[in-house]
Amino acid sequence: MVEIDPWGQVNIKDYSRLCKEFGIEEFSNVLPFISKPSLYMKRGIIFGHKDFHQITKALKEKKDFVMMTGLMPSGVFHFGHKVVADQIIYYQELGAECFITAADLEAYLTRDIPLEKSREIAINEYLINYITLGLKPKKVHFYFQTNWKKEYNNLSKFISKKTTFNEIKNIYGDTNPAKLVSALTQVADILHPQLKEFGGPRPTIVPVGADQLPHLSFTRDLAARMKSEFNFISPSATFNVLIPGLEGGKMSSSKPESYIALTDSPEIVEKKIKKYAFSGGQATLEEHRKKGGNPDVDVSYQWLRMLFEPDDKKLEKIYNDYKSGKLLTGELKEILIEKVNSFLKDHQKKREKAKKQVNKFLIKD
Ligand code: TRP
Repeated sequence: MVEIDPWGQVNIKDYSRLCKEFGIEEFSNVLPFISKPSLYMKRGIIFGHKDFHQITKALKEKKDFVMMTGLMPSGVFHFGHKVVADQIIYYQELGAECFITAADLEAYLTRDIPLEKSREIAINEYLINYITLGLKPKKVHFYFQTNWKKEYNNLSKFISKKTTFNEIKNIYGDTNPAKLVSALTQVADILHPQLKEFGGPRPTIVPVGADQLPHLSFTRDLAARMKSEFNFISPSATFNVLIPGLEGGKMSSSKPESYIALTDSPEIVEKKIKKYAFSGGQATLEEHRKKGGNPDVDVSYQWLRMLFEPDDKKLEKIYNDYKSGKLLTGELKEILIEKVNSFLKDHQKKREKAKKQVNKFLIKD
C-alpha cells in the first residue's frame, strides 16, 4: 500500500499504482471529452481525476462551476508551484468562479510559521506570481484561513461531527490535534463554496498535487455524508505529478538547490542547472556517444517535457537525440537554461505591473 502523508515528505514512484490503490481514474480516460485540454492534461502531468465528467458536463451545458484550491505559504514560489497556478488560470479562463485559500492556519499549526509571515509570503510570492501568470480579479476569492467568513468557520466545526478518530487514523496515520484541525479546515475550504452564502451547490474542481490525495478522499466521503443536510455535490478533483527537484529528489522550498524560483536571476538559473540538474547521461563523452543517455531520468529533459517545451515535435527530437547519444548532457542543459531564462525575463518584467494589482484581490468581499 502506498502511504501518503500530506504533511510529510512524499515521494511517489508509481502513479498508476497510486491510482489503483486510491480508486482514482486515469486522466487519459476523460481526455477525449475535453474540448480545450491543457498541456498538463495532454502530457499526463495531470495523471488522475475523480468525477471530472461533472466539469465537462457543466462546461458543455454552460452551467456555473467552481474552482477551489489552496496553497501552503511556506517559502519562495518556484516552478513546482507553477503547475497548480496554471491550472487555476485555466479554469478561470473557462469561466469558473475561483476560491483560493492561503493556508495560513495550516502553516501555523503544522509548520510553525507565524501568521504575519504567512501573509507576507502568500501575497508577495504566491498572489503576485498568480497575477503575473494571468489571474484576473473577476470572480476570484483569495482568502486567508484565519480570516474568512463565519459560515466557512462554522463549517469545519460541523464537519467534525461526521467523522471519527478511527477514520482519521486510517486516512492520515499518526496524527495530532493540530493536524486534525488542519484537515477539517481543508475539508471546509473545499466544500464551503457550495454553502448558500457562497453560491450554493455547484460542481467544483479541485486541482491539486498528488500529495493532497488523502484530503480529497476524506472530503468526498464527508460531502456524501453531509448531503442530506447541505446538498453538497461531491467535489471533482484532478491530481498532478510532483515536478522532480533539480537533483532528482523532491522539490522543496527549504532546499534552494532543488528548485528554481520565479524570481531567480539568469546567473543563478545557469549555475543551478549546470551544477545540480540530475543527468541521465553517461560518465564519459565516448560512452555517451556510444550508449546514449536516458531522458526518462534526466531532470533537464523532464523539466522541458513538464514545463518548458510545448512543441511536441521539438520535444521528441530532443528525446531521440539524447537517447541516441547525439545530444550531450551539457547541450541539453543549455537548451533548458535558454528556455527558463527567456520565460523568466518576460515574467519578471510583467511582475512589476502585477504588483500594482494586488489590492484588487485583497480589498473586496
Ligand atoms: N494542504 C494544502 C498544501 O499543503 C493547502 C490547502 C489548504 C489546500 N486548503 C486547501 C489545497 C484546499 C487544496 C484545497 O499545499
